[in-house]
Amino acid sequence: MSGTERLRVALGARSYDIVIGSGLLEQAGALMRPVLRQNRVVLVTDENVAALHLKRLEAGLAAAAIAHHAIVLPPGEQTKDFSHFQKLAEDILGRGIERRTTLVALGGGVVGDLTGFAAATLLRGIDYVQIPTTLLAQVDSSVGGKTAIDTIHGKNLVGAFHQPVLVLADIDALATLPRRELLAGYAEVVKYGFIRDRAFFEWLEAHGAALVAGDAALRREAVLRSCAAKAEVVAVDEREEGERALLNFGHTFGHALEAETGFGDALLHGEAVALGMRLAFDLSARIGLCPPAAAQRVRRHYEAVGLPVALASIANARPFAADALLRHMGRDKKVRDGQITLILARGIGDAFISREVPAGLLREFLAGEAANSLSRPISAP
Ligand SMILES: NC(=O)c1ccc[n+]([C@@H]2O[C@H](COP(=O)([O-])OP(=O)(O)OC[C@H]3O[C@@H](n4cnc5c(N)ncnc54)[C@H](O)[C@@H]3O)[C@@H](O)[C@H]2O)c1
Repeated sequence: MSGTERLRVALGARSYDIVIGSGLLEQAGALMRPVLRQNRVVLVTDENVAALHLKRLEAGLAAAAIAHHAIVLPPGEQTKDFSHFQKLAEDILGRGIERRTTLVALGGGVVGDLTGFAAATLLRGIDYVQIPTTLLAQVDSSVGGKTAIDTIHGKNLVGAFHQPVLVLADIDALATLPRRELLAGYAEVVKYGFIRDRAFFEWLEAHGAALVAGDAALRREAVLRSCAAKAEVVAVDEREEGERALLNFGHTFGHALEAETGFGDALLHGEAVALGMRLAFDLSARIGLCPPAAAQRVRRHYEAVGLPVALASIANARPFAADALLRHMGRDKKVRDGQITLILARGIGDAFISREVPAGLLREFLAGEAANSLSRPISAP
């Protein structure tokens, strides 16, 4: 496997590098030193990641004589709430941090979003470094500066745009990721192909299965291409006023499915996005915007790599109801003047923002999908 790659997210004074490669945790001190404003960091991670990767990071910081201490949170989406945020904030402040202290998020999107939000708000804003350890976090959540926590009204409803000062994506960390989590992250990888890069999708058709199975060189290439795509979009539309909304492809449907399944283990965020993108292609084909063959190709690729295709495949799913899904879609952050915003596709690599799908047609489409969600095979006694 070849060496380390460096990408730049070009945002003027808020520009930063994404470093992608192997063995980066061990080199983290040397890599971070140029961006630190004080020879001291506070690490935030979760119990799973701490057990697997914290020692390597601590050794990397010690090698560069950077003072550090770690705060270890419980794993899982439940940690991204007000009560854990309060505890984390008090814990960080209790260590006597200064404006020049840097936080370091070592973990998946949960740790990254929560730590980023702490960095955005503590002392009215301090620096943070993202060290993403899930595929989803490496290709998506660690780049772009969206930070947030969840509320009882929905996910990510309290947050801030706050860019990190550095992202270190260590491909080695993915080796310990459970296959289901890896596949959930793969959904965000294939998303970049779907929205604007047909050639990348074709590359994934050729290599996706081997990448999922563990090929580190292919993983590195996929993280690199995904981060390059995200960096480009973020540079032109940091605050999601235009093109960045395309990155939400599949997310409006996906959020509705996550809400219906309780944001828990039954359906991971990336799985919901995968199903949502499949729905977006099928709806696009149904309206005549996209050739049915493209929607078929999406399904075939999902089957080849192991992503879920059918709503009926969701663990413990009760039958979905079109109206319930529509209600959730109506609460999406992207709703404008009451009209649901959808990202649809004219084909693979050609997504666009649509506010024009009539509510009746959307309801009819979802009713068809909901009816199919009933057809789950009943397991034999
Ligand atoms: N900020 C953004 O732009 C953005 C984008 C997409 C998603 N998100 C957010 O990201 C979150 C989901 O992130 P996620 O999928 O990374 O979930 P996660 O952070 O919950 O991590 C998934 C699981 O994998 C474990 N884990 C992490 N790294 C591991 C490793 N290397 N080996 C073994 N286990 C490991 C974690 O402990 C956790 O149990 C959601 O809250 C979502 O809203 C944010």
